[in-house]
Amino acid sequence: MTAKMAVVAHGGAGPGPERQSNLQAAVDAASRLLVSGASAVEAAVEACVILEDDPVFNAGTGGVFRIDGSVLLDASIQTSDGRVGFVIAMPDTPNPIKVAADLLDENINGLAGEGARIWADERGHPKREVEGRAPIEGDGDTVGVIVRDSTGSMACATSTGGCSHRPPGRVGDVPLPGSGFWVNERIAVAATGEGEEITRALLSYRVGEMADSDECHSLEDAMKWGLEKLIQGKAPVGLIAISSVGPGAGLSNTEMPWASWIED
Ligand code: GLY
Repeated sequence: MTAKMAVVAHGGAGPGPERQSNLQAAVDAASRLLVSGASAVEAAVEACVILEDDPVFNAGTGGVFRIDGSVLLDASIQTSDGRVGFVIAMPDTPNPIKVAADLLDENINGLAGEGARIWADERGHPKREVEGRAPIEGDGDTVGVIVRDSTGSMACATSTGGCSHRPPGRVGDVPLPGSGFWVNERIAVAATGEGEEITRALLSYRVGEMADSDECHSLEDAMKWGLEKLIQGKAPVGLIAISSVGPGAGLSNTEMPWASWIED
């Protein structure tokens, strides 16, 4: 099967520093990689690493402190051929998405906390204190990248320091399949924003199912339905999505930088 290659990415729901051009750099890098023959997983991970390494985003290097001052990072990746990897509250790991990606072909899907770090040590993933930063009121909260490669395979990579003002043991939506992300053979969805609300709604899975159904005519329709019908109150939430054809799309009920690319 051949497909038009495509990328869509977001830089976190919620107001914050100007992040659009930084986000575009990651989308450009992913598109260049795809054109040079990279797989969806390779391009999604590399773009996510660029965002994790950029302190303007709440992920990796720029991950916000938990309320005890710790920096604990979550990341996830899922593929349209049915693989998944995720890490929860990882300490001392500037690029948790690489550890999540290393789980894709293992017989365990997810790891948390110190155990995740021990496993990462055994696999040679760099261990380094992550500087992090203090939460800024209303700061963007996650990064996400979805890629479709020339074979039609899709991969979704997400990463975060977690929503601001959360305790060290708290688990948000980003490492939870169906909540912060969902991918099947036809659709890929990533969420950003208030993790508790996203998790309660099982948002990414349900938006993906809606996008796949006869009730829905576009990715935008499915995301609009998700934000309007599944999210309660004023919780800031955004979504990006891609299907097996056409460009990716993004929609948010608050500020959310997003960018996309599709092959000519
Ligand atoms: N959406 C990121 C979090 O709630 O941690």
